[in-house]
Amino acid sequence: MPAPAIIFPADPLRPRRPDPHFAWEARMLRELGGEQYLVDHDALLAGEAEDAVRLVPRGCGPVWYRGWMIPSADYAAFARALADRGANLLTSAPAYASAHELPGWYDVFEGATPPSVWIPLAPTAGRPGPEQLAAAVARLGGHGPAIVKDYVKSRKDEWDEACYIPELADPAAVGRVVARFVDLQGDFLAGGVVLRRFEEFARTDGTAVDGANGPRDGEPAGGTTEARASDGNGAGGNGADGNGAGGNGRAVEARVWWLDGEPVLVGPHPDAPEQSAEPDLTEVRPLVRALGCRFVTTDLASRADGSGWRVVEVGDGQVSGLPRGIDVTGLLFALLAA
Ligand SMILES: Nc1ncnc2c1ncn2[C@@H]1O[C@H](COP(=O)(O)OP(=O)(O)O)[C@@H](O)[C@H]1O
Ligand SMILES: [Mg+2]
Repeated sequence: MPAPAIIFPADPLRPRRPDPHFAWEARMLRELGGEQYLVDHDALLAGEAEDAVRLVPRGCGPVWYRGWMIPSADYAAFARALADRGANLLTSAPAYASAHELPGWYDVFEGATPPSVWIPLAPTAGRPGPEQLAAAVARLGGHGPAIVKDYVKSRKDEWDEACYIPELADPAAVGRVVARFVDLQGDFLAGGVVLRRFEEFARTDGTAVDGANGPRDGEPAGGTTEARASDGNGAGGNGADGNGAGGNGRAVEARVWWLDGEPVLVGPHPDAPEQSAEPDLTEVRPLVRALGCRFVTTDLASRADGSGWRVVEVGDGQVSGLPRGIDVTGLLFALLAA
């Protein structure tokens, strides 16, 4: 069995080179003697999967992907097009969807992650109606602060208008924030609307994150960047306001990279690469194993009262952002040995 190769997105301007955002990972892989191939991300998202993988050699065997986020349906087409060329994507399409979309991982992580409910929405369906929202709010307990996101991403940069709901018992506020979120996501809304109970996490200045002083990040989510979505900008959070580069006011998150149920890299979240945390993995490890996906990330935050670690979100390891400058040797070695 040959060592797996890694497929990176091609640079749209120079299609035989990796996209500049992933060039350093590709360079590291080369230095370790690993094989790399390229996918045309734009063609993939345009529904032309066969064309997108034209540069992947036939019969190349096992492959991982490291690149921009891919909607689950396009990932399934990607896996099929690769299989047609004799390349075996080591994360199957169902496994990708389980780790990438909140409803795919939530049941396994329930109790270890903020309580959440969701409303499936077709991309063109528009905003959820007031009855749908009221029913979702009731399922979430009916009162208290919450956050809104879709199955994959939030709009944390538009915290007050499109992410944070101060009080679920205020239907007008719920409707306003959800409507703004749905409008801003537009065609890029993934799956549907998720409501999650807001929890107090420890933040970089040692106090709790409160809703009025929530996260501020450098990279906008959704909108035109969503087609090139990466989770974290890889160059470090550089929010322009007081909560930005210094990290004050942001929940401290550790990103743990898991391969076959083992943590192969524990580092900062790419939005705050200077913030390190050492999470206790005792409770998370069996949950990752129960999820059964080979390569995933978990973002962990410490409760503000110090009572333990919470899973903020789970992601597919192939499309999770790496903090710029982190030593990825161990991670790449593990992927090549998988
Ligand atoms: N339930 C929650 N309670 C408190 N803060 C939250 C909660 N969910 C998310 N956050 C904050 O909002 C940020 C963005 O949420 P997240 O689910 O990670 O979305 P994204 O996929 O856009 O990164 C998190 O990094 C965290 O700081
Ligand atoms: Mg996140």
